[in-house]
Amino acid sequence: MSEPLRIALAGLGTVGAGVIRLVETNAALIARRAGRPIKITAVSARDRSKQRGVDLAPYAWEDDMVIMGERADVDVVVELVGGSDGPALACARTTIEAGKALVTANKAMIAHHGLELARKAEAAHVALKFEAAVAGGIPVIKGLREGAAANEIERVYGILNGTCNFILSAMEDSGRDFADVLAEAQAKGYAEADPAFDIEGIDAAHKLSILAAISFGAEIDFASVETAGIGRILAADIAQAEALGYVIRLIGMADTDSSDGTIRLFQRVQPHLVPFDHPLAHVDGATNAVVAEGNFSGRLLFQGAGAGDGPTASAVVADLIDIARSMENGGEAGPAFSVPVGELEAMAPAPSGNRLGRAYLRFLVADRPGVLAEITAAMRDAGVSIESLIQKGRHDTGGEVLVALVTHEGPESAVSEALRLLEGSPSLTQPPLVMQILGE
Ligand SMILES: NC(=O)c1ccc[n+]([C@@H]2O[C@H](COP(=O)([O-])OP(=O)(O)OC[C@H]3O[C@@H](n4cnc5c(N)ncnc54)[C@H](OP(=O)(O)O)[C@@H]3O)[C@@H](O)[C@H]2O)c1
Repeated sequence: MSEPLRIALAGLGTVGAGVIRLVETNAALIARRAGRPIKITAVSARDRSKQRGVDLAPYAWEDDMVIMGERADVDVVVELVGGSDGPALACARTTIEAGKALVTANKAMIAHHGLELARKAEAAHVALKFEAAVAGGIPVIKGLREGAAANEIERVYGILNGTCNFILSAMEDSGRDFADVLAEAQAKGYAEADPAFDIEGIDAAHKLSILAAISFGAEIDFASVETAGIGRILAADIAQAEALGYVIRLIGMADTDSSDGTIRLFQRVQPHLVPFDHPLAHVDGATNAVVAEGNFSGRLLFQGAGAGDGPTASAVVADLIDIARSMENGGEAGPAFSVPVGELEAMAPAPSGNRLGRAYLRFLVADRPGVLAEITAAMRDAGVSIESLIQKGRHDTGGEVLVALVTHEGPESAVSEALRLLEGSPSLTQPPLVMQILGE
C-alpha cells in the first residue's frame, strides 16, 4: 500500500473531534477504500489545554492554523473552524497557495468566497472539496456533481437547516408557539445561543447558493438569495396549514428562468406550505433533505442527518478518500463545482414576480367590521384569486382576528401588488406573512 495521505486538522470542535474519532475507528477500512492510509499528522485550535474527548498526543500541535498548509508533513488541510472570513479563510488561502488540497465543512466561507478559492485551487492544481458544507452527512454534492452529472437539473430544493426543521416539527407536535419551542431547542443544544443565522434562513441560504452553483453551472451568488426565516410563524399558522392539508417547512429553492431569452438564477429560502403527500412533508426533526429534479433521472431525494459530529465527519472523510484515490491515480480531483470555474456562468438573479404559484397569506387584523372586505378588495384589485379564506378570533391577543387565505395559482407579482395596496392600513396590526405553497 502507498504512503499515507497526511492530514492537518484546523479546528477541533464538534466536527474536528468527530473526524479524529472516525479516522481512528475506521482506519483499516478507510485505508483499503482510499488505497492508502489516511493519517492525521497535525492539529490546531484556539485552546491547547481544552479537553475534547479525543487523545491529541499522537499529533503535532500547531499554534497558528493559518500556516498548517505550509508544513512539510501535511498533504491536505481540513478546515473545521467556521466563519466566512477570518482565520478560516486565511487558512484556506494559505493552504491552496502552498499547493495543498483543502477540505472544508464551512458553508459560509464557500458561499462567500467559493469562487475565489475554486479559481485558486484550479490554478494550483489542487483539490477543493466541501461535501460537509451542505446538509452535513448527506452526500448531496457528490450526488449532484457525479451521480446526476448527465442531467440538466430543472429544480433543486430542500430542507437545509436542521434547527428550523426541529422547531417547526416541535411546534407541529405540541401546538406551542415559536419562542417557546426555540427556548427548548436551545436548552437541548439543537439551537445555538445566538440562533439568528439558523432561524433567519441565512445558514440555509449559504447551502442553497452552493447547491444552485453545482446544479446549474452558475457562479455562486449568495448575495442574491431571497431570504426569509421562521420567526414570524405562529402556532395558528401551523394549525391552519394542517387544516388545509399542509405542513410548514423552511425550504430553500433554486431554479433557472429563461423566459426573456437570458438564463437567470432564482434562489429563495422561505417557509413554505408543503402538501401532506410530498416527501418533504415527512422530513421531521433535525433531519435535512434535498430534492433535485433531473431531466433524465426524474426526482431524486437525498435525506439524512444534516449535522452532528458523526454525519459531518463522514462527509469530510469521504472527501479525503476521494483526494487519496485521485492522487493515487496521478489525476486531479476535478473541478470544485460541476465545471471548471471559467465555464461557470454569471447568471443575473431572476425576479420572483414572474413566478406562478399558490400562496398562503396570513393577516392579523383589528376586530371590527369592514376589515375582511378591505383585504378581499385589495386581492380583487390586484387580480389575486382567492381559493379559500378562514377568519378566526384570537382571544390570546386581546381580540385580534387572524385571517388566513390561500390563493389560486397566479403570478407572485399580483400578491405583492395586493400587499402593497394594504400597506399602512390601520386595520392590520402586523405586516402580513406570505408563504408559498410547494407545487408538484
Ligand atoms: N456542527 C455540525 O454539525 C456541522 C455540520 C455541518 C457543517 N459544520 C461546519 O463545520 C465547521 C466547524 O463546526 P463545529 O460545529 O465543529 O464548530 P465548533 O464546535 O465551534 O468548533 C470550532 C473549532 O474551531 C476552533 N477555532 C475557532 N476560532 C478559532 C481561531 N480563531 N483560531 C483557531 N481555532 C479556532 C475552536 O477552537 P477551541 O476548541 O480551542 O475553542 C474549535 O476547535 C463550521 O464551518 C460549521 O459550519 C458543522
